[in-house]
Amino acid sequence: MRERFRVRGGARPVGAVTVVGAKNSALKLMAASVLAEGRTTLTNVPAIADVTIMAELLRSLDVDVDYDPAAGVVVLDVPETVGHRADYRLVRALRASISVLGPLVARTGQADVAVPGGDAIGSRGLDLHTAGLEALGAAVHVSHGYLIAEAPHGLTGTGIRLEFPSVGATENILTAAVLARGRTRIDNAAREPEIVDLADLLVAMGARVSGAGSSHIVIDGVEALQPTSHAVIPDRIAAGTWAFAAATTRGDLEIVGGVLEHLRAPLGALERAGCTVEPTDRGFRVAAGPARPVAFDVATLPYPGFPTDLQPFAITYNSVAAGSAMVTENVFEARFRTVQELARLGADAQVDGHHVMVHGVRMLSGAPVEASDIRSGAALVIAGLVAEGETLVSGVHHIDRGYPRFEEAWRALGAEVSREPDEEPWEG
Ligand code: EPU
Repeated sequence: MRERFRVRGGARPVGAVTVVGAKNSALKLMAASVLAEGRTTLTNVPAIADVTIMAELLRSLDVDVDYDPAAGVVVLDVPETVGHRADYRLVRALRASISVLGPLVARTGQADVAVPGGDAIGSRGLDLHTAGLEALGAAVHVSHGYLIAEAPHGLTGTGIRLEFPSVGATENILTAAVLARGRTRIDNAAREPEIVDLADLLVAMGARVSGAGSSHIVIDGVEALQPTSHAVIPDRIAAGTWAFAAATTRGDLEIVGGVLEHLRAPLGALERAGCTVEPTDRGFRVAAGPARPVAFDVATLPYPGFPTDLQPFAITYNSVAAGSAMVTENVFEARFRTVQELARLGADAQVDGHHVMVHGVRMLSGAPVEASDIRSGAALVIAGLVAEGETLVSGVHHIDRGYPRFEEAWRALGAEVSREPDEEPWEG
């Protein structure tokens, strides 16, 4: 059933909100579990649909997966022999399925993973993933919509320099190299906290990895890995979402479980724009100043730069801030879907190539809008809170992929956000 959020404008959320485990870490850790025979346990796993899909994918590879969303625990029991085919039906539903590529080639000598195709965030390439695996000695080709990587005699460590610090490619090379013969060195590696979390899991499994979190990762291959237990890091993008929510709505939120260190660039920008940003015993607090928020320019970059996943929130913030700002997207080609929906709410924003020029207006005005991906959907809910009247945000399934029970979190903070069936326009 299609659902939508009904958002009433005008609330200033105040209180504490708890950050869930990182989606983009949990999915990769689940995929990496196939590297070791036996039972790996992951905790602090978010209760989101993407985890259910990854569980289904791993089951299709003969892994016995027990996912308890309420407890946030996934137990993965990996057999001696795992399958090697990631079906299009699942990959299409979850682009992050591509993260089984590295672990499968390393463990079974073969991976057949459906090519994901385009999505609302632009056509994301896989050339860096495949070049990395080829450098490690795998033969890679595409056949009938599947990326097929074969290394029947195992992989061999080597030096790999990434043209761009791709998160997914760094992860696939890392998870492939842990079982390769000899030393692999990844230069210009992605430095995201999720890479560090993955490396921590691999080290706990017995892998020899150093340098994760820097641009140079060194991996010394081992014969086999052992299962382990590991807690997923807090979701920095969810934490950043709440930080922007506080700043945009002139609220005051304690973000429990949030890691300030992971959000230096966006929190620094909010602080310079007049917000109070301070650590607390349980996370950090972001409180807007008494005056209207002040516009600021943003340019997204790989970590530790301003995260592309927070870019829709920066546009939303600027759309009601005092002044004008330029938001530049440097990581993805087409990630400005929020703009046309914000325009329906009365925002003054124009896309020009990979820039958006935003002129702040005093108030948005409520209207029906459509979420097209996780982040733009969450950003539209925040926009609804600073719009006069009611905003209906359709496409809630996108928001559910990253923000479990989003409406309940808002209500606990005093904002009126409710979930309801989404009637097609011609039905009413
Ligand atoms: N790219 C290539 N070739 C490649 C790999 C990447 O050209 O082989 C390009 C992409 O087209 C893109 C850029 O490099 O323009 C960045 O891609 P990257 O590989 O770094 O991103 P990703 O691994 O596909 C992850 C997150 C995204 C997040 C980005 C950037 C997951 C499942 N996804 O994607 O998260 O935006 O890193 O930080 O980890 C989200 O959670 O909403 C989301 C989209």
